[in-house]
Amino acid sequence: MKIIKTIEELQQIRKEISSSIGFVPTMGALHDGHISLIKQARANNDIVIVSIFVNPTQFLAHEDLDKYPRRDIADQKICQLCKVDYLFMPEINSMYQGDDEVLIKAPKIASYILEGLTRPGHFDGVLQVVLKLFNLVLPTNAYFGKKDAQQLALISQMVKDLFLPINIVECEIVREADGLALSSRNVYLSEDQRQEALKISRSLKKAGKKIGAGEFKVKKLKKKMLEVMDTLDVEYLAIVDRNFNEVEEVQIGNTIILIVARFGNTRLLDNLWV
Ligand code: PAF
Repeated sequence: MKIIKTIEELQQIRKEISSSIGFVPTMGALHDGHISLIKQARANNDIVIVSIFVNPTQFLAHEDLDKYPRRDIADQKICQLCKVDYLFMPEINSMYQGDDEVLIKAPKIASYILEGLTRPGHFDGVLQVVLKLFNLVLPTNAYFGKKDAQQLALISQMVKDLFLPINIVECEIVREADGLALSSRNVYLSEDQRQEALKISRSLKKAGKKIGAGEFKVKKLKKKMLEVMDTLDVEYLAIVDRNFNEVEEVQIGNTIILIVARFGNTRLLDNLWV
């Protein structure tokens, strides 16, 4: 595996690749969720490129940018074990060369609800960096987890709206044995908070069971889910269609149930695609 630190080197290497490229953009602190994306990229492409870049423009002023976990050495080992060909780890000032650059605006309606409501501008920053990375890597396939459902939808829309010749691959959520969805932010949880956090996946499981038994009414499903999460600080529980419009009834194949709950300063996200 080759570690690439500069944009010039990446562009040079990219020019020499004519076969398929699977790309996994990350912010590091790699866990089994990322590994599953890398494995899918490895299985379906000739060359695999992973990027690690903690992107400042997607963090709001008060958010955890400085505290965001950084584990470069461990991450490099993981990528090596996963047979990544190139690991791109650029510096901040090479990715953002000035304060007054061309900006990408995420679509208003889809980006200022749910995650975007409490994190206004977050998705502008995500799309900005993902577009830069896509333009550098020029991948055939790019892999994103369904856990960040809104991010995945907005990246897919960007690819469609800007006619980018890239296939976005949607990857399943990876969970701990006890159901907790994997996240780089799980390391912030105390043991007690971690136990409490299990109520998120339990409530999703409960909703899945109820839907399986024929209960499609959103009001009733939400009530049952909130009972499971009774002690949690739930920021939002939303049941939406694939365009992120709130719905009154679940429609199989076209519904996502999304939860964000807070544990101290840590926000955990989870969801179920029905
Ligand atoms: O999901 C993430 O880790 C980030 O939002 C991404 C897509 C790497 C952009 O910084």
